[in-house]
Amino acid sequence: MIKKIKIDQLKPGVFIHDFDSGWHTENLFINQTLVKNTRTIEIISSWGIKEVFIDTDKGLDIDEAKTGREVQLETDENLRKLAEADPSSSYYVPLKEEVALAEDIKKEATSVIQRAAQNIQEGKPLETEDAFLLIEKMQESVTRNKDALILLTRIRQKDEYTLMHSISVGSLVLSFCNYAKIPHDRTLNFAVGALFHDIGKTLIPLSILNKPGKLTDLEFEEMKRHAEYSAEVMKSAEKIPHEAFDMGLHHHERYDGSGYPHGLKGDEIGFGSQIAAICDVYDAITSNRCYRDGMDSILALRKLYEWSSYHFNKDLTYQFIRCVGVYPIGTCVRLESGLIGVVVGSTDNVLQPIVRVFYDNKKQDSVTLYDRDLFKIGDKVTSYEDAGKWDLKKLKIFEDLPAGISLFS
Ligand SMILES: [Fe+2]
Ligand SMILES: [Fe+2]
Repeated sequence: MIKKIKIDQLKPGVFIHDFDSGWHTENLFINQTLVKNTRTIEIISSWGIKEVFIDTDKGLDIDEAKTGREVQLETDENLRKLAEADPSSSYYVPLKEEVALAEDIKKEATSVIQRAAQNIQEGKPLETEDAFLLIEKMQESVTRNKDALILLTRIRQKDEYTLMHSISVGSLVLSFCNYAKIPHDRTLNFAVGALFHDIGKTLIPLSILNKPGKLTDLEFEEMKRHAEYSAEVMKSAEKIPHEAFDMGLHHHERYDGSGYPHGLKGDEIGFGSQIAAICDVYDAITSNRCYRDGMDSILALRKLYEWSSYHFNKDLTYQFIRCVGVYPIGTCVRLESGLIGVVVGSTDNVLQPIVRVFYDNKKQDSVTLYDRDLFKIGDKVTSYEDAGKWDLKKLKIFEDLPAGISLFS
């Protein structure tokens, strides 16, 4: 049985099934392992890990620990409460419509970041004029529809992870600032910081950056230096706001002090960097990497919720979850009416999205696909449905979106 325990409950003889360390985005590629001695526990603790999942079939049991299933149900209940506390949502343009416009913005963002990276490799300073113009357009796009640009950046070729990640984190930060009603000027500063938060990776050797396996300790130390490189690069720019510079330097700091480069704690970490940390981790765990497939959005939200107890500012994480929506596009859900479907769009109420229905649980029969606007009809989501039970790829639920947007890993 899979159970979740705190690090101080860990003892020799326990088998670790999952280190639950995805908030540590740059490495920590660790396999399942049997805890042999207390030294192992000290090492795991030094990585900033506070909780792990164990497999009691392969090692000792910890009686009082909750099962993985219990943890998930509790988290889902908490997510639902978060949404119920503020179900309003601002929604303007249907996803399909905005995707067509966002394609052009994605192209422009690609060339802005590529040009910046090239300048840096040639030893030239970072120019921010184009970036500010671009960000105004990105801001308009996420205001019309918060999902389109972010979904487009999920389509990633092997060598463009950092590029698409930068656009996605920029879009997520904009979306968050809209939701949290951050003033316009400050929002633009945060978005520039987000767009260039990993620009320092341009100075990391590709053999480390694209290495498909675990990095050696030395390689990991070099990889971690990208935050300082990002800050140095941003310093070279003429008009870089201090808050943007800070996001480059501190987006890997963690609220409990377990991050890098300075091990800052709590509000020692700048506000923009706290937001960047959440958006950075959300994008990193939902997107495909060279060594693993990305998580579904809902799994990622569950993880963020759990990790917010230690690694992130809790309030900001809750706001971020509300902003992404507890039923993000692509989430498989069960409705009060007994129907089962996949979320394909937003309405004015986050608890009542547009759902593409494919099964009627009352009749125990599949139905021809159709879109059900829960807000108009008065139906609502009652629980998450395990997407793995259904062959969603075969159902071709997102056929009307541009080729390549995959919402199911
Ligand atoms: Fe980073
Ligand atoms: Fe990043």
